[in-house]
Amino acid sequence: MPELRVAIYPGSFDPITNGHLDLIERASKQFDELIVAALQHDSKRATFSLEERLELVRDAVAPFANVTVDSFDGLLVDFAREKGAKLILRGIRAISDYEYELQMALMNRKLEPSVETIFMLPSARYSYLSSRLVKEVASHGGDITSLVPPCVAERLRAIQR
Ligand code: PNS
Repeated sequence: MPELRVAIYPGSFDPITNGHLDLIERASKQFDELIVAALQHDSKRATFSLEERLELVRDAVAPFANVTVDSFDGLLVDFAREKGAKLILRGIRAISDYEYELQMALMNRKLEPSVETIFMLPSARYSYLSSRLVKEVASHGGDITSLVPPCVAERLRAIQR
């Protein structure tokens, strides 16, 4: 039997945006299984708790049958090993992402040479989008409905109230 192509899509997802979701949709067509993995982070640094971030990701990826949601702490390559995944997926929006992504990918390769990082591009219409900017716009009452899944927009509006 051929080996299943399992990829991990790691991130903070604080919160998940339509840019993340666009990449997840594209990747779900390329891999047998995609594990969206939220970094645990200490709660002081993240706007949303791990439980909230996972709930929002789960809600957003529900339409994709081969996408599962998990969380990890510590090294990403250890989590990949634990899951039997040989692929790490990262999105590159613009050239400004490249340097950080290159460093991370090469460090992960140094730590675990058998794991390959694969880069995909989200739709150009999301190339300016980030969780940080979405939170900033929402905090000033700006319209974020076309930038995030409905469950996230609702949660961000609730925070403002
Ligand atoms: O969404 P983000 O914040 O850009 O995601 C960054 C993430 C979670 C992929 C990265 O910080 C990570 O993998 N952290 C786990 C610790 C680790 O493995 N570090 C070594 C690789 S440089």
